[in-house]
Parts: sequence; C-alpha cells; structure tokens
Amino acid sequence: PKTLPLAGRHILVTAGPTHEPIDPVRYIANRSSGKQGFAIAGALAMLGARVSLVAGPVDLVTPVGVERIDVQTARDMAAAVDAALPADAAVMVAAVADWRTENAATSKIKKAGDGTIPSLVLTENPDILATLSKSDKRPALLIGFAAETDDIVAHARAKLARKGCDWIIANDVSGDVMGGERNRVQIVTTDGVENWDEQPKDVVAMKIAERIAAALSLL
Ligand code: C5P
Repeated sequence: PKTLPLAGRHILVTAGPTHEPIDPVRYIANRSSGKQGFAIAGALAMLGARVSLVAGPVDLVTPVGVERIDVQTARDMAAAVDAALPADAAVMVAAVADWRTENAATSKIKKAGDGTIPSLVLTENPDILATLSKSDKRPALLIGFAAETDDIVAHARAKLARKGCDWIIANDVSGDVMGGERNRVQIVTTDGVENWDEQPKDVVAMKIAERIAAALSLL
C-alpha cells in the first residue's frame, strides 16, 4: 500500500480559547469554538501524522488518531506545548487570551453590601507562538493564525514578521466565523498571498494539511 504523505511526522496543533480565572467560579474567555483547529488536527492525522492537539476548553469530540492534551489557561497551554515538543511542524490555531488577571481570587468574590465594584487588574500572557519561534525547539515549519476584522493581509504580513513564523493563515472574523461551520482564509507567506474561497472548515483543514505535507516533503 502507498504510504501516507505525513507518515513518520509529528505535528503539534493548538486550538480553542483559553480560560483565565477571576475567582474559582468566574473566568475571562473568548468566542473561539476550536472547530477549525480540531478539523486541522484530524486532517493531519488522516494524512498519517502523529498529532498532539493542545486544546483549550471546548465542547468537541477528539478527532480519530489524535492525542489530545486539555488545558485551561494560556500558561497551561504554553507548558503543554513545550512538553509536546519536538515536532516537525506546529499549527497554532488557539485563540490564546492576551491578558489574565494578575491575582485570581482563591475564593468567590462576594458582592459588597455598599455597592463597591471590584476592579480586575490584568497582566499580559506569554505569547506561545512568538516564544516557540525563538526557541531552539522551533519546528521546521511554524504556522500561525490571525483572526482579523479589517486590513487582513496587512495585519497578517506584520504578524508573520513579528512572530517569526513561516505562514500566517488569516481569517476574516467580521462575520459569524467564530463558532460557525465555514471559513474564508488567506495564506500569507514571504512569497505572497493565496486567497481561498469560503468553504467548510473541514475542507479548509484538509487543504491546509495537504499544503503542510507538500512543504515538509521539500524540507
Ligand atoms: O497576536 P495574535 O493573538 O493575533 O496572534 C495570533 C497567533 O498567535 C495565533 O497563531 C495564536 O495561536 C498565537 N498566539 C499564541 N500565544 C498568545 C497569543 C497568540 O500562541 N499569547
């Protein structure tokens, strides 16, 4: 039988949002469903890769053949990514929270009787993708995502340089992409921009997986 194009490769995928605790019952989150990242992990496995999927809190079934590591916070995700390395490629699809509360309360914050409103003090989370691109464990092919609503390609180009990755897959989230079943992406590399038609997320995923297989075969 013909061997699959990603046989023998290890690929890391991050997906979903992160939850940053405010206290034991409350958290800061975002609208990422994890669907596109899970579909990419599944497509890579179908092409024969060993896939480590570091997943934030999502309500999704683990794709066949994928090893899933569940995390809650950005810092948990950073540690899980580090533990899953080395990898031949990494696809960073997660919508990692930019900020977390500086000091999460260890017991539930109660309403003050006098109407005093609590303030949240935020601090910046680690940038997992930017850290990985500078690390000595950087995968040979490093792919970031960019959810944008305006000036999509310009922002993606800037992000490619700033984050030190090989491709940025930009998606227009001005519509109902987050949580939806379809996606319109643009592949931004130093060579230029490819515009893909809007299509189901699992079709986008398989095309990305095939493009990854083609790129790795040349490395
Ligand atoms: O800067 P921005 O959040 O738009 O960059 C998005 C890309 O960076 C995505 O690939 C995302 O997974 C990654 N990222 C990350 N860690 C962060 C923020 C973003 O890995 N703290």
